[in-house]
Amino acid sequence: MARQRGDLRRILSSTPLLRSFAFRRCFYLSWLIAFSVLFIYQRFKFTGYTFKRVVRPIPRLRPHVFNLTEFGGVADGKTLNTEAFKRAVDVISRLGKDGGGQLNVAEGVWLTAPFNLTSHMTLFLAEDAVILGVEDESLWELMPALPSYGRGRELPGPRYGSLIHGQYLQDLVITGHNGTIDGQGEIWWKKHRRKELKYTRGRLIQLMWSKDVEISHITLRNSPFWTLHPFNCSNVTVRGLTIINPVNAPNTDGINPDSCRDMLIENCYISVGDDSVAIKSGWDQYGIDYGRPSANICIRNCTVHSPISAGVSIGSEMSGGVTNVSVENLLVWGSRRGVRIKTTPGRGGYITNVRYRNLTLENVRVGIVIKTDYGDHPDENFDIHALPVVENISFDGVYGRDVRIPVRIYGSPEVPVKGLEIKNMNVGVTRKKKHIFQCSFLQGRVIGKIYPQPCEELDRYDSDGLESSKASSSA
Ligand SMILES: *[C@@H]1O[C@H](CO)[C@@H](O)[C@H](O)[C@H]1NC(C)=O
Ligand SMILES: *[C@@H]1O[C@H](CO)[C@@H](O)[C@H](O)[C@H]1NC(C)=O
Ligand SMILES: *[C@@H]1O[C@H](CO)[C@@H](O)[C@H](O)[C@H]1NC(C)=O
Ligand SMILES: *[C@@H]1O[C@H](CO)[C@@H](O)[C@H](O)[C@H]1NC(C)=O
Ligand SMILES: *[C@@H]1O[C@H](CO)[C@@H](O)[C@H](O)[C@H]1NC(C)=O
Ligand SMILES: *[C@@H]1O[C@H](CO)[C@@H](O)[C@H](O)[C@H]1NC(C)=O
Ligand SMILES: *[C@@H]1O[C@H](CO)[C@@H](O)[C@H](O)[C@H]1NC(C)=O
Ligand SMILES: *[C@@H]1O[C@H](CO)[C@@H](O)[C@H](O)[C@H]1NC(C)=O
Ligand SMILES: *[C@@H]1O[C@H](CO)[C@@H](O)[C@H](O)[C@H]1NC(C)=O
Repeated sequence: MARQRGDLRRILSSTPLLRSFAFRRCFYLSWLIAFSVLFIYQRFKFTGYTFKRVVRPIPRLRPHVFNLTEFGGVADGKTLNTEAFKRAVDVISRLGKDGGGQLNVAEGVWLTAPFNLTSHMTLFLAEDAVILGVEDESLWELMPALPSYGRGRELPGPRYGSLIHGQYLQDLVITGHNGTIDGQGEIWWKKHRRKELKYTRGRLIQLMWSKDVEISHITLRNSPFWTLHPFNCSNVTVRGLTIINPVNAPNTDGINPDSCRDMLIENCYISVGDDSVAIKSGWDQYGIDYGRPSANICIRNCTVHSPISAGVSIGSEMSGGVTNVSVENLLVWGSRRGVRIKTTPGRGGYITNVRYRNLTLENVRVGIVIKTDYGDHPDENFDIHALPVVENISFDGVYGRDVRIPVRIYGSPEVPVKGLEIKNMNVGVTRKKKHIFQCSFLQGRVIGKIYPQPCEELDRYDSDGLESSKASSSA
């Protein structure tokens, strides 16, 4: 042993070239090997003769746990698993009294047509599990129009149902280790652009008249239309979702709380072809008749990217009213608009008590937008005298850079914007131009340091709350 080492040293010292290169190479190589082994060790496990991938264990979240294979599921990306999902849901639907059931979807690609979920159910998507929506539109059943819309959103009449659907459910969880639900929307976007569809496109996930819902830690992709659409639901938590639709995929909103109460959306990353989040509550006379507001909605710690539309919107369909909304710690990047409120005469309803706190806008064309003449009616029977109320909208802390027009708030004689408040704003603009803080028919005030210079319509207060100047005109 000692002799061998001595030999090696002698050989090395006699060949300096070898010494310098070989040693250094050897040193790097051993580090590389050490890191690779560590990496492989973390993801795979050595079993006898072969490395096997370590499957992250799926937690047991209900007394009864199933996997899709037990119901005949095949994860080859080609076999339809619709019946497997139906059988699983059917079995779980009978376990409600016993704490419900959990359906695990393992790694692999599980093709399916639309199916329904049930109460007291947890759908768990493992890491690298993909639920893939079937492209054939004949397998997407039609459903009646939503009562508060009176027709399909895009086309009159009924509409396609959603890939994953539920009605009148309680205690539903869709979660996982960041597995994916992929709607394969491409074919729908194409047909929509070519005007080949007879009915409004389907959502990726829609839950109606349901409560106590959690949707968390999964990825949603390629929705044909709106991605996650809870309608007339309450106590809904949406947490840690990644939602990605191509930014040119038409009307692929991220999350649409619609006539929902008590809803929390947090820690999400959303990049889509329309609004990242759009809070709604029905369309003109249909929404007024249905009369269900969206209320008590909190959106916090989300990063959103909406190059075609807005980061967080309220409206334009808001005829049942929208109130008590809080949007906090939001980062909007590379978007056409930051946050937007949109409505129009004929909608009726109200948008009140909306608080935005700590907004960051990066490379956004128009930062804060309120538009009260949006138009877009379901049919000719709307009442033009049904005027929406827009009141008590506040912003506390608006920051950012590369914004072209930081504020564009246009009320109108029929729909003035009242009780607007902006406290502390510092937004870097792309070009120093006049009229980048645009207002009309607006009443309210600004408090503290505001950059860029606010419009004349607003009263000004210093940071101690002392009035420093009165608006030159008010609505
Ligand atoms: C799914 O269930 C089947 C039948 O009980 C079982 O053989 C299989 O190992 C399970 N797969 C997973 C990933 O748990
Ligand atoms: C889902 O449930 C609704 C309401 O019960 C029903 O109308 C619809 O046909 C069901 N869809 C599927 C795919 O089973
Ligand atoms: C989940 O997956 C998405 C896309 O596949 C990825 O961008 C995101 O970072 C993942 N989230 C977590 C928490 O790993
Ligand atoms: C809301 O739903 C969760 C389950 O997602 C449940 O644990 C909680 O008790 C519900 N809260 C209320 C107030 O019903
Ligand atoms: C649907 O809306 C009505 C009116 O706001 C409400 O009473 C009902 O509880 C809602 N349904 C659910 C499941 O939240
Ligand atoms: C904010 O959300 C991100 C995921 O988008 C998460 O990693 C982070 O922990 C969250 N921060 C807080 C304070 O919850
Ligand atoms: C809005 O919040 C206030 C104060 O918390 C509450 O009294 C009111 O009931 C809420 N409005 C609705 C429609 O829930
Ligand atoms: C403001 O929001 C950003 C995310 O856009 C976050 O990083 C930061 O911590 C927030 N600041 C406060 C004081 O919450
Ligand atoms: C707006 O806020 C003011 C002052 O707090 C309050 O008197 C008024 O009722 C609020 N308006 C609405 C529609 O909530």
